[in-house]
Amino acid sequence: MCGIMAYIGSKEAYPILIKGLHRLEYRGYDSAGVALLDGKLKVYKCKGKVDDLENLCKNKNTSGNIGIAHTRWATHGEPSDENAHPHFSQSGKIVVIHNGIIENYAPIKEELKKRKHKFISETDTEVLAHLIEAVQENEGCSLAEAVRLSLNQVIGAYAIVVLSRDNPNELIAAKKGSPLVIGVGNKEFYAASDATPIIEYTKNVIYLGEEEVAVLKRDGEIKIKTIKNKNKTPYIEELEMHLEALEKGGFPHFMLKEIYEQPRSIRDSMRGRLNLEKGYVKLGGIADYQQTLINAKRIIIIGCGTSWHAGLVGEYLIENIARIPVEVEYASEFRYRNPVIHSDDVVIAISQSGETADTLAAIELAKSKGATIFGICNVVGSSIPRATHAGSYTHAGPEIGVASTKAFTAQITILALMALEIAKAKGTIPKNKLIQLLSELDSIPAKVEEVLATNKRVAAIARIFSKARNFLYLGRGYTFPVALEGALKLKEISYIHAEGYPAAEMKHGPIALIDENMPVVVIATQGASYEIVVSNIQEIKARKGKVIAVVTKGDTVVEELADYFIEVPETDERLAPLIAVVPLQLLSYHIAVMRGCNVDQPRNLAKSVTVE
Ligand code: G6P
Repeated sequence: MCGIMAYIGSKEAYPILIKGLHRLEYRGYDSAGVALLDGKLKVYKCKGKVDDLENLCKNKNTSGNIGIAHTRWATHGEPSDENAHPHFSQSGKIVVIHNGIIENYAPIKEELKKRKHKFISETDTEVLAHLIEAVQENEGCSLAEAVRLSLNQVIGAYAIVVLSRDNPNELIAAKKGSPLVIGVGNKEFYAASDATPIIEYTKNVIYLGEEEVAVLKRDGEIKIKTIKNKNKTPYIEELEMHLEALEKGGFPHFMLKEIYEQPRSIRDSMRGRLNLEKGYVKLGGIADYQQTLINAKRIIIIGCGTSWHAGLVGEYLIENIARIPVEVEYASEFRYRNPVIHSDDVVIAISQSGETADTLAAIELAKSKGATIFGICNVVGSSIPRATHAGSYTHAGPEIGVASTKAFTAQITILALMALEIAKAKGTIPKNKLIQLLSELDSIPAKVEEVLATNKRVAAIARIFSKARNFLYLGRGYTFPVALEGALKLKEISYIHAEGYPAAEMKHGPIALIDENMPVVVIATQGASYEIVVSNIQEIKARKGKVIAVVTKGDTVVEELADYFIEVPETDERLAPLIAVVPLQLLSYHIAVMRGCNVDQPRNLAKSVTVE
């Protein structure tokens, strides 16, 4: 959601900014723009994609070695040329790019209008640009000081970069609630919403903290203050990301690449955390809080979208293996319903991006009530790992496709490890069973590899159903969240209406939808509920529904009943989600490609949802 890219140094800024915007496209956006300064301040912006912006800039003057650029995901005002960033101040000499929402923009705008300010767009960001200039004029202060003072008047979330025609040798960056990373080069700086556009230039980054304002000078000097005027020492960290992780590596889409990466990413999530010979699990990041976890009376898992689905699998795993009651909640609901939270509760926040606004707000709420918060996040250095007491990174590597795939399986892997670690410490699992489950977990990457070998078969099934208008997904127990995730994947990228349901609930509603035009994906792998799922399949067939079944290898019963089947290797049913979700990811991928959809950047969606 909204991408920020900025540069100051001795190189030509335009190619760096455009490349940066392309790297940030995965976040989701609907307009783009760039501002460059070389004596003259030039701003080009338009509705549409970064390619459209490039076309607009063809044959235009794009020179300058300082500039800011932006991809906008519309909040205040529709996607349009006027609403695209950068936004000008009243005089036109200051430009601002912004990610987040200024909640009190309306009264500020009214006040400024009384002082004859004229606004061109409907955005909250333009109001901020005007405010900064008004403050600078009133106070007769520096640009940086005007930004700092203005941000004291603002309620809401922001990551901003400010450029002024009068200050050709500095950029001002600031952050609260929305992410901002500063890349530190040799007498040059980059600023971006995440590290992906920076990594090819420098591995040295500074993650700007909450309510911090940074002044980035062309001579390589950087000064950071809080908006309350407290000096901060810049802390430079080294990125571990590799550039190849941001390329498609021969795959037609990032999503397919990421589906295929899962044997590796699941293995990376386990690396160094599981010891088969000695029969133990150790999640280093939570070691200091292990006792708190073991003593927890209750665990509350919060997340959004796919991360919430992983949380549901976590509930089954932790309750079954570690015998601690677990509740799973949408972060957005949790934060607004005045939940009962005790100081001996443990909250696990799951987030791929580590930036989801609702999850962050839910964490702050739980923290304020004294709960201990663990994070399970993928993006290193993002806001959620910073806001939690402890946590584990999933180490799945950058996930660029908007529809989450490898992050989901990595999150489940961490949750399984967590359940096993608590269970061992609490003695809720006998040693031989622990070792069995650990060795099963260890074999999952190879089994996912086997599932990937069914890709052609899945593509053939996708072809048959690519024109369907609705889909139903059913699962039971551990595979119920997989049904939800399968349905989410399909609707996200192919725009086909799909619903996930617990198989037994079908009788209480969805069965009314079933006729010869309704494809029903049933996860019918071996497990405690297998027989009942077989009955559910019979009920669907009796109503002429088309059954696509995911079955355990060698299952002749369901293979006979279903219209189409996809075999997956046998595993412990508690780990089945890691395997069963893969054919569903492939199915939605192929259907979306066949329908001509933009798989990696589906319409209206954002990879990282930094507004409520
Ligand atoms: C967006 C993404 C989803 C993701 C959800 C939660 O909706 O498109 O793929 O599951 O946000 O994001 P998080 O980064 O917190 O896991």
